[in-house]
Amino acid sequence: MAISAVDPKPVLIDCDPGIDDALALLLAMSEPTHLDIVAITVVAGNVAAVQTERNARRLRDLAGRSEIAVFGGCRRPLLRPLQDAAHVHGETGMDGCGLAAPQGRPSQRHAVAAILSAVAKQPGQLTICAVGPLTNLAVAIVQRPDVMAQLKGIVLMGGAAAAGNVTAHAEFNFYVDPEAARIVFESGIPIVMHGLDVTHKARVDRPWVDQLLTVDTPVTRSVAGMLSVYNGGVDGDPRGRPVHDALAIAYLVHPEWFGGTDCHVAIETNNPDQIGRSHVRAGADIGEEGANAQVIFEIDADRFRSYLAGQLQSL
Ligand code: RIB
Ligand code: CA
Repeated sequence: MAISAVDPKPVLIDCDPGIDDALALLLAMSEPTHLDIVAITVVAGNVAAVQTERNARRLRDLAGRSEIAVFGGCRRPLLRPLQDAAHVHGETGMDGCGLAAPQGRPSQRHAVAAILSAVAKQPGQLTICAVGPLTNLAVAIVQRPDVMAQLKGIVLMGGAAAAGNVTAHAEFNFYVDPEAARIVFESGIPIVMHGLDVTHKARVDRPWVDQLLTVDTPVTRSVAGMLSVYNGGVDGDPRGRPVHDALAIAYLVHPEWFGGTDCHVAIETNNPDQIGRSHVRAGADIGEEGANAQVIFEIDADRFRSYLAGQLQSL
């Protein structure tokens, strides 16, 4: 048995695959010595929860990690109807992936129960990486705040200090379920927030895909196929496309590549023109509420892109 200098970090990944979620999950599953994935939970977001659950199992099978449990979660946001992102990810949520239907059957255990059980099993040790709407986490917090207070922390993709990507103000994950995001940011659980401010700095483009494909595997072929569809394809923007969720996973393994600031983040749930906006205040502007999140603004994008390609090629 290899004696690693550092034991793998226990992590639960809550997601809505989704093409950038797919890259995030594949990246996480490529790092068994750094990340002990205790479970994957899925939520309605990019596409319906039934589909995100199927996609998570398809990716688990693709990565050869079929031992990782997948649990289906909330089928809609807390108060609002689901507004999905099929126009970005395709009707399946992973158009272009070229993958067969998943093996086996969905678990009968709900994601919220799985989250609470995983937290209670490793108090103070477990990190949740949340890269979709925060509905599952919010329900878990409402059901058992005492258990969720034992979380080591939440590393999430969502929000933006500057402009949104659904409205001028709101990023998709927070826009889809703003009440859930508000519950999470008011919970007191330590949060690291990767918003659009940083994810838009680490895009992948055609040269990156071409380099990825110099290693021809089922994983690289599937990723290239998805990126040809994702938000109109990598060729659709000369800057390339942001792979939002993959940054949150990379942060878990290489936090030294990122730079952040302690901030107070408040989620807009009242002003109809700014629903889902993350009001980010730093420094002297934080006020008496104090900081409730570290907001990431900087990344070593070249290191990240090279790492992501290398890890996907290694699967
Ligand atoms: O705004 C980007 C986020 O919304 C990503 O998590 C993407 O998968 C979508 O869910
Ligand atoms: Ca996502």
